[in-house]
Amino acid sequence: MSNFRTACKIDDVKDGEGKTVSIDGKLIAVFKEGNEFHAIDDFCPHMGASLAGGWVENGIVTCPWHAWRFRLNDGAWADNPRIKIGCYKTQIVGEEVQVEVPEKKQ
Ligand code: FES
Repeated sequence: MSNFRTACKIDDVKDGEGKTVSIDGKLIAVFKEGNEFHAIDDFCPHMGASLAGGWVENGIVTCPWHAWRFRLNDGAWADNPRIKIGCYKTQIVGEEVQVEVPEKKQ
């Protein structure tokens, strides 16, 4: 069952930039590149930087601290795709960007 949750408004995210949102206490970075929105964990596994503050180019966000690079379409580390961070489906409903997050365990 899908569990899409409202993350932000379309206009909250500028093209080529990211925005940190909190869904159920989990920080997620929402990016816009062209007409597409992407959502990955807002936590760099190197030393914990916010990836939403990175810069986006060709479907990859570069961490603002030490330049590790992550693919927006699957959360893989671009230089070693066996390492991945969380990546979430997005959808647009009206003016909202929604992100599919796992169901919370009871
Ligand atoms: S914290 Fe992201 S590359 Fe170091």
